[in-house]
Amino acid sequence: MSTTVRPLSYDIADIGLADKGLDRMEWAAREMPVLALIEARFRETRPLEGLRIAAALHVTTETANLVKTLLAGGAQVALCASNPLSTQDDVAAALVKHYNVPVYAVKGEDTERYYAHIHAVLDTRPHITMDDGMDLVATLHTQRQELLDHVIGGTEETTTGVIRLKAMAAQAKLRFPVVAVNDARTKHLFDNRYGTGQSTIDGILRATNVLLAGKNFVVAGYGWCSRGIAMRAAGMGAHVIVTEVDPLRALEAVMDGYRVMPMVEAARIGHIFCSATGDIHVVDRPHFQVMRDGAILANSGHFDVEINLEALAEMAVEVKRVRDYLDEYTLPDGRRLYVAGEGRLINLAAAEGHPSAVMDMSFANQALCVDYLRQHAATLENRVYSVPEPIDREIAALKLQAMEIQIDTLTPEQEAYLHEWSMGTH
Ligand code: ADE
Repeated sequence: MSTTVRPLSYDIADIGLADKGLDRMEWAAREMPVLALIEARFRETRPLEGLRIAAALHVTTETANLVKTLLAGGAQVALCASNPLSTQDDVAAALVKHYNVPVYAVKGEDTERYYAHIHAVLDTRPHITMDDGMDLVATLHTQRQELLDHVIGGTEETTTGVIRLKAMAAQAKLRFPVVAVNDARTKHLFDNRYGTGQSTIDGILRATNVLLAGKNFVVAGYGWCSRGIAMRAAGMGAHVIVTEVDPLRALEAVMDGYRVMPMVEAARIGHIFCSATGDIHVVDRPHFQVMRDGAILANSGHFDVEINLEALAEMAVEVKRVRDYLDEYTLPDGRRLYVAGEGRLINLAAAEGHPSAVMDMSFANQALCVDYLRQHAATLENRVYSVPEPIDREIAALKLQAMEIQIDTLTPEQEAYLHEWSMGTH
C-alpha cells in the first residue's frame, strides 16, 4: 500500500494553547484602534480577495491582529516566524484553531526547522511577501525562484531587512517591488523608538530582574531603536553610555546628555550592555577581555550577530543557564559574563515585543501597503519603495483620532503664507 505524503498544514507547539492565545489577541486588539478601523473597512470592501500572502513575522498577539485584518480583506495568509525565539506559542495555536491560518512557528525552533517553516509558507505560492528581516525574500530569491513569477510585491517591516533589500536592489537581484514599511514615520519614530525602548528594558528586566538605577548601561548604536533604549534606561536611573561609529549620531547622543566613547572603553565600566546597531560583532573578544565580573550582555538588533557569542563560548571555561533566558559564561580568570536571551532580540525572546499601541501603527502600514501593492504593483519597478506619504499621514491622523486628540488646521492666510516667497522681514 502506498502512503500519500500530505503537505503539512501547520507546525506549532501545542494547539491546546489556542484559547489562551485568543484571549491575549483580544486584549492586544484593545490597543490597536487604527488596525481595527482598517479591518472594518476591509471587511466591507474585501480589497484583498483572492490574494495569497506569505508572512514571516514575529508571531505575537499584535501580528495575529494584523493577520485577522488581512483575512477580513479577503486575503489568504500563511505565517511563519521571523526569529526562532520570538514566537508566542499560544498565539500560533489561536491562529490555527480560531482562524484556520496555516502557521509554522515554534518558540525555540532550531535553524533547520526555522527555514523549513519559511519554505512551508512559500509553498502556498504567494502573491505578496510580508517579511521582517528579509529571510523570506532571500529564501525565495535563492532557493525558490520557480515561485517568483507569482509574486507581485512585498513589504518589509524592519531596518535590517530594508538594508538587506536595498543591497539586493543595488545589485539588480531584487525581482519584485518591496515597500519599506520601516521607513514610514508612523513606523520608525514610534515602533523603533518607543516600542524598542520599552520592550527592550522589559526583556532585560524579565531575564535578569536587576535594578537599573545607578548602573552603567551601555547602548551600542544611536539609531531610532537605540535612542529609545537609551531614553528608557536613563528614565529608570541608569547612567547611559552610547557607542557609535557615525559622527552625527554620536554628536546627537552627546547633546541628548549621554556619555559617548568607544566600546573598548565602555566595556571596562559597563554593568549592562545592549546592542541595536544592525551590524556584526559589535561586542567582541577585546571587549569581553576587559569587562567586569557580572556584566550583562543583551541584544535588541534583528539578528543574533551583534554579540560575538562564538568567541565568548571559545573563551569560556564553563557555560551554564542560570535563569530562563540568562546564560553565565565563566572566563579562565573567574569573571562571569551573562548573556540574556541567547543574544537574540531580547524584547521578543524574554518579553512580548513592542506594546500593541505602537504595533497598531506599524501594522496599519503593513495592511495599507498590501492594498497599495495590489493596486499599483504592476506599475512599480523591482526596487525598494517608501511608504506613500498619504498612507503615513492617514495613519497618524487616525491614531490621534483614536486617542481623542485634536490638532489645529492652517488658516487660509497661513496656508497662503507657506506658498509665498516675496514676504520677508517687516
Ligand atoms: N516586533 C517588535 N515587537 C513586535 C510585536 N509585538 N509584534 C510583532 N513584531 C514585533
